[in-house]
Amino acid sequence: MSIRKIALLTGGGDCPGLNPAIKSATKKALLHGIEVLGIRDGWKGIVEGTQEYLMPLHADVVRHIDRQGGTILGTSRTNPFKLDKGPEKILANLKKHQIDALIAIGGEDTLGVAHKLFSEHKVPVVGIPKTIDRDLGGTDYTLGFESALEIITDSVDILRSTAESHARIFVVEIMGRHAGHLALRGGISAGASITLIPEVPFDLQKVCDLLAARKARGIRYSIVCVAEGALPKQGGEILASGEKDAFGHVRLGGIAEWLAQEISARTKLECRSVNLSHLQRGGKPVAFDRRLGFYLGIAAVEAVLNKQFGMMASLTNGKIVLKSLSEAVGALRLVNVKEAYDQVYYQAKRSILGVQEV
Ligand code: F6P
Repeated sequence: MSIRKIALLTGGGDCPGLNPAIKSATKKALLHGIEVLGIRDGWKGIVEGTQEYLMPLHADVVRHIDRQGGTILGTSRTNPFKLDKGPEKILANLKKHQIDALIAIGGEDTLGVAHKLFSEHKVPVVGIPKTIDRDLGGTDYTLGFESALEIITDSVDILRSTAESHARIFVVEIMGRHAGHLALRGGISAGASITLIPEVPFDLQKVCDLLAARKARGIRYSIVCVAEGALPKQGGEILASGEKDAFGHVRLGGIAEWLAQEISARTKLECRSVNLSHLQRGGKPVAFDRRLGFYLGIAAVEAVLNKQFGMMASLTNGKIVLKSLSEAVGALRLVNVKEAYDQVYYQAKRSILGVQEV
């Protein structure tokens, strides 16, 4: 059977880099005479399958989108496996709209669904990795990561002048869920003096001692980057809400504010907090996300043309390759603490030879 029509969807948290991938996959498919249908609002759109969720993608529609953040298709955190007959509705709608293959762009949840649809229901699906958390297996890069880093770096640069003027400590909260990649790279790029990551529970008194020692050395201000999922040794995760989404995730948030209060109380140094929150997922894609979106979009369509379903386009050791969706979602990719993190000074390790970066 030849491929005549494919559908594209984006699921989970949005980020810059999605639109470049949508554009690139669409243009590659059109080049091969394949019709492209955008599905609005992630898995919800293909479960519903009604006209309002369908967006035909032509060259004119995608021409300028690679410069825009977010996703023109919209997104949701819908889990079809939690809906009554969700997978069956997807199969019926694929048939109804004569969709021969599906490209799903997403993180662990969206690609987890793609993997289950492929392995349990034989849905012909290919994935493209995206998440600012960079916590997917099977790839060295996920779209959106570098754009989020740029925002973190710019934001800390902006904070520096006020931190210095007032001689204050600023605690900056960084997303990433249970992975510390974004906080660690953000800490390096922004020049933070302390970075706390979920992979290494931190000792609050030690953080205070490190900051007090900097003050004693005559350093006027300090920047602390804390991952939203960082864990104080003395307590559990700090949650914005205990409510779980359709994939069982609680909403993290609030650790920077808590930490700033604790540091002030223990050190008597003036401390303020900023939660960068969803600003990290906003704005336009940086060059790297445009370029990787371009490559990964093409690779996903090549996989479809070769009927290599159940696979994900990936950047591995500097090459664009295909990896199985099962590898992508098999285990969360966390910071390699031994290689990359200094547990004494709570910052990136200062030895790098032989360490894999992007
Ligand atoms: O997975 C991406 C991410 O931005 C996480 O870093 C963060 O914890 C979560 O999504 C926030 O989700 P929401 O946009 O649903 O608030």
